[in-house]
Amino acid sequence: MSIPKKHVLVTGGAGYIGSHTVVEMLETGYEVIIVDNLVNSSKEAIRRIERITGKSFKFYEVDIRCKKALEPIFIENKIDAIIHFAGLKAVGESVEKPIEYYDNNVGGTLSLIEMAIKYHIKNIIFSSSATVYGNPDKLPIDETSPLKTTNPYGSTKLMIEQILTDVGVAHPEFIIVLLRYFNPVGAHPSGLIGENPTGIPNNLTPYLAMVAAGKLPLVHIYGNDYHTIDGTGVRDYIHVLDLSHGHILALEKVNKPGVYIYNLGTGRGYSVFEVLHAFEEACGKTLPYVIDPRRPGDIDASFANVNKAKDELGFQAKLGINDMCQSLWKFQCQNPNGYSK
Ligand code: NAD
Ligand code: UFG
Repeated sequence: MSIPKKHVLVTGGAGYIGSHTVVEMLETGYEVIIVDNLVNSSKEAIRRIERITGKSFKFYEVDIRCKKALEPIFIENKIDAIIHFAGLKAVGESVEKPIEYYDNNVGGTLSLIEMAIKYHIKNIIFSSSATVYGNPDKLPIDETSPLKTTNPYGSTKLMIEQILTDVGVAHPEFIIVLLRYFNPVGAHPSGLIGENPTGIPNNLTPYLAMVAAGKLPLVHIYGNDYHTIDGTGVRDYIHVLDLSHGHILALEKVNKPGVYIYNLGTGRGYSVFEVLHAFEEACGKTLPYVIDPRRPGDIDASFANVNKAKDELGFQAKLGINDMCQSLWKFQCQNPNGYSK
């Protein structure tokens, strides 16, 4: 098969979503160049991508904010497109360290785009987030829903979307794709790569895995008085493999200049209780839990209208909540201490 945009620079390719996407790209025949400063990942992820795929690729340990280090990568390599995952992503931390988040996420993107313009790399795919919808007025959420953010992390995503939209106006030959992810979960079926959070996880599914592994005593359910089927928060969990595939579709199917926005989710929401029960089934254990007060900033429900991604990209999530929980549990069992030995 011939791949028109064969050489792809992947920023943040050692991270959770990036590593899964790189695996599929290598398996499909792409030539990948990863740039990652390993602020939230490790070289072990790089080794494991090589182990799964049996393929080699270039890896630069570089902070994308550092133009002096970034520019040689554009000079040394043929690059047809960029998938831009690199960024800091912890909502709570962004409230405590807003400048770090604006500097890293917005600053890093600015330096990357500067290089893309200078070296005529006209195709950019960006990791945005459903967080840009804030507390949605209506469900399911489509791409025309009003945008509003409630924390600095979300604001960096919205700002970057705006910056890339402006770049699309100034450089009408560019193909820019903004992918708004809902809640990525799960791991590669090999159990070799997955989400590798440091410390106590903030997100629900890694927390469930830690409780199931006996590393944390019980699950804290943040609120059971939401306007949802059972009172707990509802989210659109999407398997990281389906999400990764969405990037390949965005590379292959979007070929006309312009700025395109797509939700990537499954279109179906699950409550915290539903996820807890699916995880219990996957790990074969009953998980103790306590109902805590609502977590500040959390919303009742969020799930995607994915018609646009389906119609224009041919995107459709294939894996369900049981696959998500089983693969995460496998990763947890095989890597009780994450990527560290
Ligand atoms: P991750 O932290 O696992 O991966 C991000 C990678 O970027 C890490 O390997 C990190 O070392 C690298 N990085 C960060 N700043 C960098 C810099 N300045 N220069 C070079 N590398 C840098 O996160 P992830 O879950 O894989 O998320 C990937 C992208 O998707 C992020 O932009 C994130 O905001 C976005 N996103 C994630 C989620 C989610 O729930 N995981 C949801 C929506 C959007
Ligand atoms: N929850 C618990 N207990 C926990 C963790 C979470 O009950 O220990 C609940 C939350 O209240 C929420 C649901 O589980 O109802 C999901 O929470 P997560 O923290 O897993 O995910 P969020 O929807 O809050 O946010 C995630 C990312 C954001 C991203 C958003 C949309 O953390 O960065 O998905 O992509 F913007």
